[in-house]
Amino acid sequence: MIVCVCHRVSDRTIERCARAGHAFEDIQLELGVATQCGKCECTARNIWSECRSVAPVAHLRNESQPRVAMEMG
Ligand code: FES
Repeated sequence: MIVCVCHRVSDRTIERCARAGHAFEDIQLELGVATQCGKCECTARNIWSECRSVAPVAHLRNESQPRVAMEMG
């Protein structure tokens, strides 16, 4: 679904950026979200914050993965 009509930015793009660790301000600068008419800002921020809140859980799950031994010799 297109969230920002002015810059044709979808919810998936915002989700991907949020999960990659981008700040909302970074998304605004790079994609133009909420920088023209501003009607998309509330929806875009909600999508961003929902994705940001689940990111640390995914990171912790990755931390529980078995690590490869780095022993030499
Ligand atoms: S709809 Fe996003 S700035 Fe206008």
